[in-house]
Amino acid sequence: MFEVVYYSMTGNTRKVADAIGAELGVTARGIKSVDKLGTDATVFLGTGCYTGVVPKEIGDFIERTQLKGRKIAVFYTSGFGIAKEREAFLKYLQNRGVEVIGTYNCFGKFAAVRMGHPNTAELEAARQFARSLTTGSSSTANKPKPAVTVKKAK
Ligand SMILES: Cc1cc2nc3c(=O)[nH]c(=O)nc-3n(C[C@H](O)[C@H](O)[C@H](O)COP(=O)(O)O)c2cc1C
Repeated sequence: MFEVVYYSMTGNTRKVADAIGAELGVTARGIKSVDKLGTDATVFLGTGCYTGVVPKEIGDFIERTQLKGRKIAVFYTSGFGIAKEREAFLKYLQNRGVEVIGTYNCFGKFAAVRMGHPNTAELEAARQFARSLTTGSSSTANKPKPAVTVKKAK
């Protein structure tokens, strides 16, 4: 069983969440509407990047759904794709006792920047990310472009 949950202010992360949900056969849900997660579920949690600060809603969600001690996959979208944003998100989760089993990030449109993102290739790469974590597939048929990084935690 899978759970795909996201925080998305302007809709980009939601598109990625929907792609991952479609791949896994579940409906992606905004975190504000989620109070409980299946105890055996593999959770995919996504957010946008907002001035490099992880939204408070994510912290509330982690507490409310008792994510501490669980292994989850994370994804996020950002306007600039700077690695330190991913590191900040991972650190944030680590500090709250959440173990990350894989990460995916891609661009999201921001004002007049990154128009069209996440694009078709990025959404397909997100689906591949979900597949790779749930089936162990290492297919490179849709290898992400440089703007996209898929990183599996050790
Ligand atoms: C208030 C705000 C602040 C943002 N700050 C950053 C930032 O510091 N770095 C960055 O790369 N992108 C930044 N962005 C761009 C977003 O990360 C990008 O548009 C992302 O895809 C938004 O996700 P969402 O559509 O799911 O909300 C910002 C966007 C907003 C709305």
